Amino acid sequence: MDTFIGIDLGTSSVKLLLVADNGAILNSVTQTYGVSYPHDGWSEQNPEDWYSGVIGGIIRLLIDQDKTEVKGIGVGGQMHGLVVLDKDDKVIRPCILWNDGRTQAETDYLNNEIGKSALSDMTANIAFAGFTAPKLLWLKRNEPQNFKRIAKIMLPKDYIVYRLCGGFATDYSDASGTLLLDVKNKKWSDGMCDVCGVNKRALPRLYESYDAVGTVVSDVAKQLQLSANTVVCAGAGDNAAAAVGTGTIANGDCNISLGTSGTVFIARDGFSVDEHNALHSFAHASGGYHLMGCILSAASCNAWWMDNVLKTPDFAAEQRGADDVRGTLDLFFMPYLMGERSPHNDVDARGAFIGLRPTSTRRDMTLAVMEGVAFALRDCVEVAKACDTPVTKTRLCGGGAKSALWRKIIADVMNVPVEIPAIGEGPAYGGAMLAMVACGKYKTVKDATDKLVKISHTVYPDAQKAAAYEKRYDIFKQLYPALKNVYKSISEL
Ligand code: XUL
Repeated sequence: MDTFIGIDLGTSSVKLLLVADNGAILNSVTQTYGVSYPHDGWSEQNPEDWYSGVIGGIIRLLIDQDKTEVKGIGVGGQMHGLVVLDKDDKVIRPCILWNDGRTQAETDYLNNEIGKSALSDMTANIAFAGFTAPKLLWLKRNEPQNFKRIAKIMLPKDYIVYRLCGGFATDYSDASGTLLLDVKNKKWSDGMCDVCGVNKRALPRLYESYDAVGTVVSDVAKQLQLSANTVVCAGAGDNAAAAVGTGTIANGDCNISLGTSGTVFIARDGFSVDEHNALHSFAHASGGYHLMGCILSAASCNAWWMDNVLKTPDFAAEQRGADDVRGTLDLFFMPYLMGERSPHNDVDARGAFIGLRPTSTRRDMTLAVMEGVAFALRDCVEVAKACDTPVTKTRLCGGGAKSALWRKIIADVMNVPVEIPAIGEGPAYGGAMLAMVACGKYKTVKDATDKLVKISHTVYPDAQKAAAYEKRYDIFKQLYPALKNVYKSISEL
């Protein structure tokens, strides 16, 4: 039997799967690490922590397994993070993460001075604070000594690929989120390199996600007792990898992810971009393209509420009884704990409960948090609808998808059937499938997903609840415009 390692390099942890060539999961492990918030709205991680997590994770994953059977490794990683290495391959500074909001000035400069239409012509996207290009501009202005030392620019999963096989590589899906890629033509944009003062030699070579970049370097092979022929593929941004893991490949297929971030991912056969650039227009790990809306805080809102406020590890107990009052609350939660990307593009936005009464209970607030995340994702679905890309059904993955209550809320708030894949580990499973294609087990990503992705069950919307949520969504939509200026004032305190 041949086996493959799929890795999901996430924000709170790295998850690793050992997958057999028939798609069965043989083992899975998770290694956690921290995020540092050096200033309000900033978030950083140390790439060395990811690498130790990956190496420690592979060692644990392969205990009692036949290591000679491992044929390939594929990584799906948190997107947009800026990893910079100097000429001696030393990491220059901690990675600035996808949900870091320090680049408002640089984002405004790109969108207003370079101009949204020029950006869209060059890259198919406009600037959002978490994207990589504004971070490079921030570094140039605020840490010029570090900027000068840059010899290699890479994304989080590219750092892992580099350490595992020595290839300075990225893939089109992840590169799309740098705002340095000409997404339509799948090449680095000379115009954007000029805007950011980046030497193209500092950018990685571009690959399809399912291309082999190389084989593990000898030290890694020795340390992990792997064959020196173990292939490392280019991998993908975590959302594209999750779309592979859930079989979201055909034109119009949708996947919603309830992870630290929340995303609405719509696969497209061909390149497309909407006139307002409200959705990201990115390449897909399948070789095609996709449109995507991303909210910065999804399951992380629930984690914040449970861990930091209620201080309980028993999420299920807190959700007990909430199903009985689903769709009846007059209490709202705005999930903008890290500001918001889609559709508001506002680093100053904040979380809020609206509508509290003396009768409001802990259970109501727990439910409101989950509903608020679903409403924010509905905002992205509405944008997709306005761009002639209606969502008529969706798949669901990510940590939040483990909650039966959240699945029902998503089905009712979107008013579409929600398909739950039998294997819920979207990005890691997708990473393993990309490695299978790289090793020639399957000709295309679609062949792999057609064969391996199974749906365990479908959650259908409840017509009454959907109607109740429709009314509540009409109110939710009014909250951000009403509070936008208040958030700005708070940020100026
Ligand atoms: C997507 C995005 C997030 C991260 C989370 O644009 O920023 O989904 O990839 O890991």
